[in-house]
Amino acid sequence: MCGIVGYIGKRNALPIVIEALKRLEYRGYDSSGCALIHGQELQVYKRQGKIVELERSLPEPNKCSGTVAIAHTRWATHGEPNETNAHPQVDCSRGLAIVHNGIIENYKLLKQQLIELGHTFVSDTDTEVVAHLIEQYRKTEPSLEDAVREALLRVDGTYGLVVLAQDEPDKLVAVRKGSPLIIGIGDSEHFLASDVSAIVIHTKHVIYLQDGEICSIRRENFEITNMRRESVQPQVSVVDWDISAIEKGDFKHFMLKEIFEQPQTVDNAFRGRIDERNGTARLGGLNLPPQELRKIRRIHLVACGTSYHAALIGKYMIEDMARIPVHAEYASEYRYRNPIIDEDTLVFVISQSGETADTLAALREAQAKGASVLGITNVVGSTIARESNGGSYIHAGSEIGVASTKAFTSQVTILFLLAVLLGRQRNFSTTLGLDYIHELQQIPLKIESILGQNGRLREIAASIKDSRHALYLGRGINYPVGLEGALKLKEISYIHAEGYPAAEMKHGPIALIDEQMPVVAIATKDPLYEKVQTNLEEVRSRKARLITIATKGDRDVERISEHVIYIPDTLQNLQPLLTVIPLQLLAYHVADLKGLDVDQPRNLAKSVTVE
Ligand code: G6P
Repeated sequence: MCGIVGYIGKRNALPIVIEALKRLEYRGYDSSGCALIHGQELQVYKRQGKIVELERSLPEPNKCSGTVAIAHTRWATHGEPNETNAHPQVDCSRGLAIVHNGIIENYKLLKQQLIELGHTFVSDTDTEVVAHLIEQYRKTEPSLEDAVREALLRVDGTYGLVVLAQDEPDKLVAVRKGSPLIIGIGDSEHFLASDVSAIVIHTKHVIYLQDGEICSIRRENFEITNMRRESVQPQVSVVDWDISAIEKGDFKHFMLKEIFEQPQTVDNAFRGRIDERNGTARLGGLNLPPQELRKIRRIHLVACGTSYHAALIGKYMIEDMARIPVHAEYASEYRYRNPIIDEDTLVFVISQSGETADTLAALREAQAKGASVLGITNVVGSTIARESNGGSYIHAGSEIGVASTKAFTSQVTILFLLAVLLGRQRNFSTTLGLDYIHELQQIPLKIESILGQNGRLREIAASIKDSRHALYLGRGINYPVGLEGALKLKEISYIHAEGYPAAEMKHGPIALIDEQMPVVAIATKDPLYEKVQTNLEEVRSRKARLITIATKGDRDVERISEHVIYIPDTLQNLQPLLTVIPLQLLAYHVADLKGLDVDQPRNLAKSVTVE
């Protein structure tokens, strides 16, 4: 977790790193800090809370200005989120500062050894160990980068880290293993960041540092080497989007903006991937020729959080359309369970960020068992995208709101294309393939029409915002949508919510229902419609406050519902792309009406790069 940035150039560094840090705040926001060289002196400033707190605490510019600085926004793993544990962490001499994203697994042993050598620790963090370890190696190594390299050879774990030293003030040393780090190339200046979005305002020329690479960065140049001290030829990429893509525009929150982007992002996910002539989908990135795809007898879909809910929906789609057994599982379980992966099993990992530690570990576990693992990711160049054997980008653009929305619908869109592709190969005709595709092409407009009910959803949200619990019910492919609706509500409004298969509710959760309890039910016209109706009658007769998502034209549900949200009709397997939209808006408005920090809910972070 955490976001890190660095700057070295000719401009005043502090405003640049603070601004860049704010763009990374989605990665963690319990404390933040920065370090710079002011004159000859290394200065460190830290604060608990959000970056604005840090900004407010900084002295007058004439007391803290310099042309090289590093900064950090934290999501605590080791040590509570207070000022001492915030980064940068420093060594005993207070002449060296580091910012770190990741986990040092053997920090306890290293700390013990360093204490025996006379080092004094002040924080509870694993990161401080690295600062002291580098300090130790600086006694024998000729340069800062050599000391960093030697120190890290003794460290087990993951890191993206940047080091600044008072006595080598004209360089930053950055190193990466497992946590992303990007170098931005400017004109007589260089930037460092965990994510391109932090620096795209300054430069579009970037280098994605690879695992095991160390970069020594100066104003005019930089040099990348590996752990064996060999020189590495850098590959410069050009960012093909600009800052407007990551600004809120007229929207109050990123989450709302991202919900409203979905007609476009769903379109982006399927555009160029449709083969009208053969009634199928084209997913070239899978790197699997049709003969190989035909051999697949089992699919595993592995993910965390919202991406896991997309995986569950993928299971319904692929099993129904392609008749291939699909197993969907949380990555955190999969990685330790010794999953059965034989040569006919195709494994997909699904991750918006492409950095989630558990999902990455699941990918590696499956690869270690000899499987070919494909990634469905959003962030280009992310670790999962690079380590997988192929896959598809969802092309949703930057998702900043911590609660995932547009990435979810784009993931579902890709899984639908996959179901079409596999289904066409083994189960259905061109005509049926075309029906699926043509209906998919209608989805963006249908999402648009649901977004038109935003005002009504805010009114409904006002009527339930003081509830302490909520239940979300759905059946079939809409059951995982219920799970996602409940997750959205609890993530950002802190109301306890549960998603349940509608019929299963009578085996437990029905005991919770009383006249206070909002029950959000998905009761669209599909083969299970009558069954869901019966379940809703059961809920209603216990006086629950029923909010129903129904298909346009279905007046029957009004009789038992306090509120009905109508969505356009579509094929059953495409319904999740529509039914989830009102649930996202409902959660958003509840949280906003409660005055909560929608984009940065407490205790959460956008991508969890630790176990
Ligand atoms: C975090 C985020 C969730 C996200 C999950 C998986 O918990 O808060 O919104 O769904 O990680 O992230 P990924 O990037 O792997 O999809």
